[in-house]
Amino acid sequence: MMYNNINFNKKTILITGGAGFIGSNLALYLQENFSSSQIIVFDCFRNNEVFPNGNLKSFGHYKNLIGFKGRIICGNINNQGDLALLGEYKIDYIFHLAAISDTRVYDEEIIMRTNVNSFYDLLTIAKRNKSTIVYASSAATYGNMPSPQTVGQECPENPYGFSKYIMDQIANQYSKENLDLKIAGLRFFNVYGPKEYYKANTSSMIAQLGNQILDGKTPRLFEGSEKIFRDFIYIDDVLQAIIKACEPKQNGTYNVGSGISRSFQDLADILQKELGTDMGIKYFPNPYDGYQMHTQANITSSQENLDFEPKVSLEQGIKYYIPEIKRLHEIENL
Ligand SMILES: NC(=O)c1ccc[n+]([C@@H]2O[C@H](COP(=O)([O-])OP(=O)(O)OC[C@H]3O[C@@H](n4cnc5c(N)ncnc54)[C@H](O)[C@@H]3O)[C@@H](O)[C@H]2O)c1
Repeated sequence: MMYNNINFNKKTILITGGAGFIGSNLALYLQENFSSSQIIVFDCFRNNEVFPNGNLKSFGHYKNLIGFKGRIICGNINNQGDLALLGEYKIDYIFHLAAISDTRVYDEEIIMRTNVNSFYDLLTIAKRNKSTIVYASSAATYGNMPSPQTVGQECPENPYGFSKYIMDQIANQYSKENLDLKIAGLRFFNVYGPKEYYKANTSSMIAQLGNQILDGKTPRLFEGSEKIFRDFIYIDDVLQAIIKACEPKQNGTYNVGSGISRSFQDLADILQKELGTDMGIKYFPNPYDGYQMHTQANITSSQENLDFEPKVSLEQGIKYYIPEIKRLHEIENL
């Protein structure tokens, strides 16, 4: 699937976080459609270290990259020596997706170091190479701001959201100081689709509920889930946005959501219908204060400046995704 006329063949492309969910999808998309591009995945992968919340410190997984034929550098974006390994390449495009992506990590220092400090380094690499840089921001920059969430009206409610909000400010400043560079930040809303399995309990609710149902367990939702809304976006639409963000009409920060909000109850109902089950729902109290109750991306500016048009409805996306949920559920639970 081609999203625009950019020809990535013969280009050198760096994907940080390329062993993660979105990054590995991007790496394999580019490989499939531009077979003579040189793709470099830079990722620290995973080890056994966990945050105090019990989740792994990084979610990169080799299994996301099976079939990938490009270069892989196992490196940490916090480590100058590792970043120096990129010095031998003349990089045309940088997709900077590496981050602590877990919104429930509250160690501010590690989040700011990993998400913010490294961004200065990636921007310096972009400047040196005159690369176009597209980086991941997040809907978490909005915190509990009312829907539709709109760029310019942010109030992050956790260190992760704050780190992305600061990245956006750094990018805006860098754009002003480097008029020849193309820089676009993408505020992803709730992304779902193949290759998120290894994010475990930080994967989308679609993956988590799907696995619960396949385990034969009644899907679990917070009480009042019919009133908790999210803007869910399928991975293919995210890839569309990332590719189109390489040619923005103007540099900036852009929302990447479907523009439509759906309840968690809807998710569970669609999944049960598709999986042919009728197990009901087990409701339990929501333990989180300040929980976002409604997200819906305002995508007007992304439509105008990136030509971004989400195509996949939640019903379609779940239909596309179910065979992969089933496949992984089977092989990973042997
Ligand atoms: N998936 C979503 O719904 C969503 C929503 C908003 C924003 N985002 C952002 O999009 C980007 C990609 O998200 P994802 O869902 O693919 O997450 P992910 O956790 O699967 O991918 C992030 C990758 O970065 C790597 N990484 C983490 N720390 C690193 C470090 N110090 N050095 C090198 N690599 C490191 C991880 O190993 C992982 O492979 C992230 O920046 C995330 O914050 C994602």
